[in-house]
Amino acid sequence: MSKIQEVHLSILEKQKISLFIKREDLLHPIISGNKYRKLKYNLITAQEKKYQSLLTFGGAYSNHIAATACAGKENGLQTIGVIRGEELKDSFLENPTLKLAHKHGMQLKFVSRSRYRNKGEEHFINDLIKEFGRFYLLPEGGTNNLAVKGCEEILDKKGLNFDVVCCPVGTGGTIAGVINSSNEKQIVLGFSALKGDFLKEDICKFVLKENWELITDYHFGGYAKVNDELVQFINNFKLKTGILLDPVYTGKMIYGILDKIEKNYFKPGTQILALHTGGLQGIAGMNLILEKKNKPLIAI
Ligand SMILES: Cc1ncc(COP(=O)(O)O)c(C=O)c1O
Repeated sequence: MSKIQEVHLSILEKQKISLFIKREDLLHPIISGNKYRKLKYNLITAQEKKYQSLLTFGGAYSNHIAATACAGKENGLQTIGVIRGEELKDSFLENPTLKLAHKHGMQLKFVSRSRYRNKGEEHFINDLIKEFGRFYLLPEGGTNNLAVKGCEEILDKKGLNFDVVCCPVGTGGTIAGVINSSNEKQIVLGFSALKGDFLKEDICKFVLKENWELITDYHFGGYAKVNDELVQFINNFKLKTGILLDPVYTGKMIYGILDKIEKNYFKPGTQILALHTGGLQGIAGMNLILEKKNKPLIAI
């Protein structure tokens, strides 16, 4: 079950801001957060259309790959994951995300980075159909119209009472659903996990409202890049609040929110709801990378 939890920190008291976190990470241990919402109507449609398998794309640490593998297993659908990086073929069981996907029965196909770039092209999809037969296709990150429809269910009645709703952004599907269901008085702030502001256009494809903004200052160098400061922040936040954040999406968003609060971005009295979109399965993989670099680890 997802619940709304208030966070108590001295900076919030000092700046007279209330911060609440919607614990979408508690929806399911693996199909958690936005993955649960994004897959919901896609799974229903795949089953209605009598598909027997789902095929999707992702990188070695993809939350979407892990969630699709698990959701397929729970719903009696076979799953195929097309994974970026041929070099992973012989060592994938050392990668916690791919090991988890494999354990849930996902068939993994490793392709070179250059071939992976063609994932949207018809000839590549046709080759995959020849190899695997008929499948229900989910794009990388799982964003499509049905995923946005599922994400429109994140903000419930209570969620509509907050002045500001904050959401991490990867492909833009999750925030698009949140914007669609927000009310006109609310502001929806997206915290981009990627460098650059090109995601604005992707979000615009799914939304008509204008009560939103994409914040691009908290990517920490780019997608899945972390530094000691971020790791320390995640560990301190867990110590103070009991809430574990992931290093790719929610850790960067909460860091950004608190930084903006400190810099007086919000008026005193503002009530903020931040969405915890899950992604905790990715911490084990990130810790392996940090360990190899002799860096501080994320405490689980
Ligand atoms: C945990 C987590 N939070 C947020 C996002 C961002 O969602 P979206 O790609 O819909 O912008 C993702 C990626 O899909 C994710 O895995």
